[in-house]
Amino acid sequence: MGSPMSSMPRHFLFLLASGRVDGNTEQLARRAAAALPPDVARTWLRLSDLPLAPFRDLRHGPEPYPDPAGHEKVLADATLAATDLVMAAPLYWYGLPASAKLYLDYWSAWMRVPGLDFKRRMAGKALWAVCALSDDDRSTADPYVGTLRLSAEYLHMRWAGVLFGSGNRPGDVMADEQALAEAGRFLL
Ligand SMILES: Cc1cc2nc3c(=O)[nH]c(=O)nc-3n(C[C@H](O)[C@H](O)[C@H](O)COP(=O)(O)O)c2cc1C
Repeated sequence: MGSPMSSMPRHFLFLLASGRVDGNTEQLARRAAAALPPDVARTWLRLSDLPLAPFRDLRHGPEPYPDPAGHEKVLADATLAATDLVMAAPLYWYGLPASAKLYLDYWSAWMRVPGLDFKRRMAGKALWAVCALSDDDRSTADPYVGTLRLSAEYLHMRWAGVLFGSGNRPGDVMADEQALAEAGRFLL
């Protein structure tokens, strides 16, 4: 028997986590998305448009986590509606940008919102990443990749891998021929 996800129509959620609009990561993610079949649903959310409050660890206090509201609800609903999550996040200090990390921290809250059933509903979804970086040595992104891969495994998601693109100034990635070729088949 396949996972419940395998019978659902594919729906890709692209989470844009760069600190600037239309940077290398976003350009590469849009290139990868363009290769998807036209009938595949896709939603784009820019994390900087949906700022979250500092994360609060309420796990061991008297009150349960409240139902998500505002930007948090937009992100939680979109996350649960997707079959495939694409973290489109550049490499910042060998790891994820703060907005992406904060979004991941909220998974810990959503797992504990009474009635949300977040962990069970995340199981079987795929987690992908698109990452622009300026360093030629891709092993410097090991902390970034490890964070996403291990978090996916923790939620019984499928870690689908990372598409890297080289660049520093916006648009540089369009000269990374290998990244562009990989983008054409990455999400398929
Ligand atoms: C705060 C910050 C930290 C960065 N840290 C790294 C890093 O650790 N390794 C690296 O290769 N590039 C690093 N960079 C460079 C970016 O990854 C690179 O400019 C990338 O193209 C930015 O992606 P974007 O165009 O999608 O915004 C950093 C840039 C910023 C702004």
